Amino acid sequence: MNNKSIGVFDSGIGGLTVYKALKEKMPNEKVVYLGDTARLPYGSKSKETIIRYSLENAEFLLTKDVKIIVIACNSSSSYAVEALQKKFNIPVLGVIEPGSEAAVKCTNKKVGVIGTSATIASGAYAKIIHEKSKDLEIISKDCPLFVPLVEEGWIDHPATRMIIKEYLEPLKKENIETLVLGCTHYPVLKDVIKEVLGDDITLVDSAQTTAERVYHIFKSLGWLANTDKNRNDEFFVTDFPERFKRVGEIFLKKKIDRVLIADLSLKGE
Ligand code: DGL
Repeated sequence: MNNKSIGVFDSGIGGLTVYKALKEKMPNEKVVYLGDTARLPYGSKSKETIIRYSLENAEFLLTKDVKIIVIACNSSSSYAVEALQKKFNIPVLGVIEPGSEAAVKCTNKKVGVIGTSATIASGAYAKIIHEKSKDLEIISKDCPLFVPLVEEGWIDHPATRMIIKEYLEPLKKENIETLVLGCTHYPVLKDVIKEVLGDDITLVDSAQTTAERVYHIFKSLGWLANTDKNRNDEFFVTDFPERFKRVGEIFLKKKIDRVLIADLSLKGE
């Protein structure tokens, strides 16, 4: 048993999809969440910058006595998992590996992957999917407009439907069987994406598979918490807590009471 917290970071608000999945799977675990809202978006930044930001985020979470670091951000998971695993001596898990595994399980021939420009340019999903199943054909596409649409709260909106069509029709024409939603924000658009793609294409949401992976890691290490459900999770951002609260409700469909500013100059060592 290990009653330390789960540390989760994202470039901002989108990682709340991973937070939600973790809490659904393990309600007894306490989560400390950091959204790097001052430096968002990561999806249009370089590998070096994303790694630097990710290291700083992890160092902050380590000051909160966490037992694992979950990188909820796909852009950050694409580039920074190894750097963090090398530097810190607690488990570090990104969303790409669990998402890829789920995709491989439900695809015979062709899988589509969508994400931010950074995630798609990294080729991280394609690499891991091919390691697991070398004959699968992978069609990747960056969809940079999806994040701002979600942040704006334009979920069931004609403009959103039009943009989803524009990005995803070509993948549909390619007859993909599965589509990996390789970005924190995309699960929020699931219903509209389903409407555009039809029922024959399976959507893979890496948030859920990541939560399952964390559960299995804890189970195998005997690290599941045995506290009651009332331990309060903690939310930190690097800028603009009010906005995080407001947009966060779109993700969680409930209120977030307290969001504090994180001081990233606090080092974990
Ligand atoms: N969290 C990012 C991701 O999953 C999306 C937002 C951003 O670009 O920072 O890739």
